[in-house]
Amino acid sequence: MSDIQPEHIVVVMDGNGRWAKKRHLPRVAGHKAGVNATRKIVGNCVNANVLALTVFAFSSENWSRPQAEVSSLMTLFVTTLSAEVKKLHKQNIRVRFIGDRLRFSAKLQQKIKDSEELTADNTGLQFNIAANYGGRWDMLNATRNILAKVHKGEMRVEDLTEDSFGEQLSLADLPVPDLFIRTGGEKRISNFLLWQLAYTELYFTDTLWPDFSDNDFKLAIEWYRGRQRRFGKTGEQVNDSSNLSQGLA
Ligand code: IPE
Ligand code: IPE
Ligand code: MG
Repeated sequence: MSDIQPEHIVVVMDGNGRWAKKRHLPRVAGHKAGVNATRKIVGNCVNANVLALTVFAFSSENWSRPQAEVSSLMTLFVTTLSAEVKKLHKQNIRVRFIGDRLRFSAKLQQKIKDSEELTADNTGLQFNIAANYGGRWDMLNATRNILAKVHKGEMRVEDLTEDSFGEQLSLADLPVPDLFIRTGGEKRISNFLLWQLAYTELYFTDTLWPDFSDNDFKLAIEWYRGRQRRFGKTGEQVNDSSNLSQGLA
């Protein structure tokens, strides 16, 4: 069992639509309620001294939703960013976006840029928002960067390793995720951080995202603390090395 707390938490914030449907509300009401849950988990991560939080806000595949839902989500992104960024900045939180932002409107791209610039030097929680993000896109993008380097003679094919590939991916400067949380009951990754999740602990809950409470956060952390992270080793090896590091051997 690990007493260590996660340094990097990633969240698939799923279930907004079903939350709204249960209340006979339009889907966008669920997305709005989801923003409150996001604010709450940011606060919990700050209080728990978590290094980084990455949330999945809009996938590359979410463009296939009905046009009206996509455009209400885009409007919600702009209004939420405008309303929240100063508050995040005051809490020393650094905000970054991952994903292909070029498909967003000029206005949204500007908001993204402004929020990243305003908070760039903040040393508190590293808060990353995945928007028009896909794990496959991330890996293709990394591959393109590498091919361009090889083409320009800046890199040799023999230099391609797991580390040098990983350096080209989103969030390469942060530790890989320790804990993945998905709300809404589905047990899938839905093209989130595919490469980075290789050894992440996966936690699924039926709670719909807008209902995700302080207690739900606590439960996820407690579950994580109960995992033994083996990274391919045996349980005995892991126990021995943790006894050694605690001076018990
Ligand atoms: C997640 O909630 C938010 C986004 C994908 C933008 P959903 O909108 O997928 O909610 P459900 O899965 O339909 O309940
Ligand atoms: C994943 O949720 C993406 C986000 C939470 C932004 P989806 O609701 O899009 O995932 P699927 O379609 O059920 O796999
Ligand atoms: Mg969904």
